[in-house]
Amino acid sequence: MSGPRPRAGILDIAPYVAGQASGPGVASVFKLSANENALGASPAALAAYRDAAVELHLYPDPNATELRNALARKHGLDPARILFGTGSDEIFSMAAIAYLAPGDNMIQPAHGFAAWAIAARAVGGEVRNAPERDGVADADAMLARVNARTRIVFLANPANPTGTWLPFSEVERLHAGLPEHVLLVLDEAYVEFARAVLDGRHAIKLAERASNVLVTRTFSKLYGLAALRVGWAYGAPAIIDALNRFRLPFNTPRPAQAAARAALGDYAFAEASVRSAEEGRARLADTLSAHGFAPLPSATNFVTARVPHGCAAAAIEAALAQRGVLVRGLTNYGLPEFLRVSVGPAAAMTALASVLEESVRP
Ligand SMILES: Cc1ncc(COP(=O)(O)O)c(C=O)c1O
Repeated sequence: MSGPRPRAGILDIAPYVAGQASGPGVASVFKLSANENALGASPAALAAYRDAAVELHLYPDPNATELRNALARKHGLDPARILFGTGSDEIFSMAAIAYLAPGDNMIQPAHGFAAWAIAARAVGGEVRNAPERDGVADADAMLARVNARTRIVFLANPANPTGTWLPFSEVERLHAGLPEHVLLVLDEAYVEFARAVLDGRHAIKLAERASNVLVTRTFSKLYGLAALRVGWAYGAPAIIDALNRFRLPFNTPRPAQAAARAALGDYAFAEASVRSAEEGRARLADTLSAHGFAPLPSATNFVTARVPHGCAAAAIEAALAQRGVLVRGLTNYGLPEFLRVSVGPAAAMTALASVLEESVRP
């Protein structure tokens, strides 16, 4: 039997590992494994989503016009330079399809977000990892990896799975050091949670003036709309034009557009989300430290920490899962001694602390 054979390289891709969503024999769980919003979703978005239910027979607006205009107004952007994706995940794939040919390469920090490498490998691209410094991306190491076949550089600021960030001046230095034909994809999935440490600086301004920057954002984190898969990107007109040529026309569902648009006006929820992440990560870091973990600094809605000396991360992950507290092991990211824990509702944080108390003695 010999069926169709996938293109070279496809079977070398390790599929994306999502955060676990159920515990062995546990009826209800606290899911702290996927960096979802601890407050749920914006209530305004939820209401708009429900209202949109009566229109399920209609195709979405392929240009997401109302959402596009609302987003442009909110951020002071040119609406024509916005691209929507089925989550920002889809936009990484679109960037790889458009800019990486087989044998070309992309560069990422050693612990880059897994979806980037999948996108690059799917089109025959090579992934070049640049070493980090203490879990923080290193602009010089990334620049040193550039060669004649480099077409894309990916950087998340702040980063997942580490939670760490680069001062924006370092992002600018990275950009300044890249040849103009190399696309710099700046993934800002968590940037709103980092306003304090980044002094409110972000990549949209850079994307306004540069010809080779694509900044990506998402409604999944700040607004709690992960289920609806709405991401967006902003970049130079030529980049947006290239991606739009093969974008699937209905890639953002109608109820998702409606919910995202309503979320944009929900300032109170957005502010509460940021506070929840800021306060929650500080408390989480304290809890983990008190039990002998060594947390990395975080500017996100999660904390990644090295497990106590002499403990196995997988064993702690399993002990927590048995008690219904789901966290994320990072072996597939090459960080086998680390666990990543999302900020969750108060009850989840209490449960985490009590399970750690029983299973991990400092
Ligand atoms: C760094 C980073 N980028 C992008 C995403 C994906 O976001 P979306 O839900 O918009 O696809 C995530 C999700 O966890 C992420 O951590």
